[in-house]
Amino acid sequence: MTSLRDQIRAQLADLKMPGALEAVDPVLARIDSGQISAPEAIRAVLDAQISLRNNRRLEAAMRSSRLPAVKTLADFDFSFQPSLKREQIDSLATLGFVERRENVVFLGPPGVGKTHLAIGLAIAAAQSGRRVYYGTLGELIASLEEAQAAGKLMPRMKTLTHPALLVVDEIGYLPVSRTGAMLFFQLMSRRYEHAATVLTSNKGFEEWGEIFGDEVMAAALIDRLLHHCHIVNIRGNSYRMRHHAELWGQHRLPEGDSASASSPKPKGRKTQEVTA
Ligand SMILES: Nc1ncnc2c1ncn2[C@@H]1O[C@H](COP(=O)(O)OP(=O)(O)O)[C@@H](O)[C@H]1O
Ligand SMILES: [Mg+2]
Repeated sequence: MTSLRDQIRAQLADLKMPGALEAVDPVLARIDSGQISAPEAIRAVLDAQISLRNNRRLEAAMRSSRLPAVKTLADFDFSFQPSLKREQIDSLATLGFVERRENVVFLGPPGVGKTHLAIGLAIAAAQSGRRVYYGTLGELIASLEEAQAAGKLMPRMKTLTHPALLVVDEIGYLPVSRTGAMLFFQLMSRRYEHAATVLTSNKGFEEWGEIFGDEVMAAALIDRLLHHCHIVNIRGNSYRMRHHAELWGQHRLPEGDSASASSPKPKGRKTQEVTA
């Protein structure tokens, strides 16, 4: 007759719970030796399965989302960036903004951690089972332009509208063509109130007209973006240059200069500096 323990193993295999299956013998051994109680044992077995599932989700998300690197919020050194409110990032990390289909804009000079934080939020969302997608503004526009040239714009638009969280990184480093700007505007209009977007820029909103080559379109884009938006302004030194403190002393760049949140805020629209 199969033992009770063999039956448990067979059941876990049947339920396709390899994490729990791997954990069950050592956990049973710890019950036998009186180290843990039955509820603790159940929790340990379930924990093992949940963490395996989360790791698999993350691996799958890293492949499909095109996230360029694993940068987690846990790896972020808040003490290096005192202008950043830790509570604001912690609050964003609970992903209520994804649920509410709100946007997050990280503004600040190069190297202050905008991409790191955007990826960190995307990874948190992926770990919670949500679909995420990452691209620089240049990459996203290029993919839309290619799709349009191939007569496949609509499926591509849908692919980029679908994810619960889209990261649009590096707005402002490269100028955008007129058609590119229009395609991006269409994408953001589709995502508006439909899914959350995290954007990063080294330029303040007042310079977005220049980036997109069209003041009116940029204003309309910003209007939609800011309607439900958390703005994170990072003023500080580049983390990349942290070992060159002496250089900072000599050639200090104007801090947070290009990233003031002095946006053309449309009337009657609420923009939160600090998340609830
Ligand atoms: N506060 C920080 N703690 C840990 N790593 C950081 C921090 N800020 C930036 N980095 C790291 O420094 C590099 C530059 O940051 P990044 O997010 O690319 O800056 P930005 O997008 O603002 O130009 C990345 O490797 C990032 O992981
Ligand atoms: Mg960046």
